[in-house]
Amino acid sequence: MRGAIRRQDVLKLVSVGGIAALSAHALHEYVPWVDYDGQAATSRKGSSPNAPAPLKMQGLVRYATLAANGHNAQPWKFETLADAIEIHPDCSRRLVAADPSDRELWISLGCALENLVVAARAMGYEPAITYPDANDVIRVSLSPATPRWSATFDAIPRRQSTRSEYDGKAVAAGQLHQLRTMPLEEGIAIHTVVDRNGVSTLAGYIYEATLRQYSNPPFLAELIRWLRFDKKEALASFDGLFSPCAGSPAVPRWLGRLFVSGAKPENLAAADVRKLESSAGAIVITSAAEGKSDWVRAGQVCQRLTLTMTLANIKSAYLNQPIEVPPLRSQLRSSLGLDAAYPQLLVRFGYANAMPRPLRRPVEQVLMPS
Ligand SMILES: Cc1cc2nc3c(=O)[nH]c(=O)nc-3n(C[C@H](O)[C@H](O)[C@H](O)COP(=O)(O)O)c2cc1C
Repeated sequence: MRGAIRRQDVLKLVSVGGIAALSAHALHEYVPWVDYDGQAATSRKGSSPNAPAPLKMQGLVRYATLAANGHNAQPWKFETLADAIEIHPDCSRRLVAADPSDRELWISLGCALENLVVAARAMGYEPAITYPDANDVIRVSLSPATPRWSATFDAIPRRQSTRSEYDGKAVAAGQLHQLRTMPLEEGIAIHTVVDRNGVSTLAGYIYEATLRQYSNPPFLAELIRWLRFDKKEALASFDGLFSPCAGSPAVPRWLGRLFVSGAKPENLAAADVRKLESSAGAIVITSAAEGKSDWVRAGQVCQRLTLTMTLANIKSAYLNQPIEVPPLRSQLRSSLGLDAAYPQLLVRFGYANAMPRPLRRPVEQVLMPS
């Protein structure tokens, strides 16, 4: 039959494509001259309280940049002054499609603020925070004090968003109690969901929100821009979402793009539901009001929570989709009985092996010229 494609031809094409994909994957995985792990470790090198003041300031900025942040876009700039560090938003790194109101950008700055404050105490400073009520900057004034090391400080380089499926084991009641009674910030509350009904309510929202996001071309295009499909790409920018950190193989960009844009939204949504269901539970972080300073405080609490979990070897990862899609955010609010509180973040937690660590840009790249 002329013109018609025979079944054997299709199978042949599929297998040739498969072999090409596998070879491309093998080539991209096996690049011993590209030291990704070495660079990831360098990003996490600490500094000492005995270092000279300028080096200590740079060390504090380094710890701040190890915080969680949306798409690992690292939307921050730091200004080191004689007795303060200022955290500024880097608007060139906004996530216009995923976060049009900059809500998550300010949450990310709040996560960085928490790391900075914990590290400042360990490095011999007493920090005092000025929130961005009056202008677009978070200021941390630093006065000399006796160094106060804390276990949380050591958890900063170890924390990660562990995006794999977890092992399904529950977190002991005593540890849940410790998380629920953790000190919070003004207006911020945490709602723990560990019961079957609660988890299944969240799963429904996560499914629907993921479906909507992945069916939205600008969201998908922005995500693909921030994906780093192989080590060389990751090491060219030191930012973004490196595929192996989410359990996906390293592949060339053309193939990665094809996988992501060709994936069925239903399958991606189902995969995220499985991740939630494999977890011990989830925590919704809310704020009493909605504004830059509330978002920053939500970020601080989230970072504190995930550092506390890291100390107990509890892994965590974000499933914020239902909060990122406005109509679902308000429905979620009433379904969970959150009254007048605004949901800001949804974090699942449980037990799993660690994943490869994402990179951070060198400190010099995030410092503002003085
Ligand atoms: C405000 C905010 C929103 C985030 N949203 C998501 C998300 O929806 N899905 C996800 O997998 N990770 C999300 N993350 C996690 C980031 O992708 C992660 O922090 C970043 O890639 C750096 O990785 P690390 O946390 O392991 O250091 C979010 C983090 C923050 C602070």
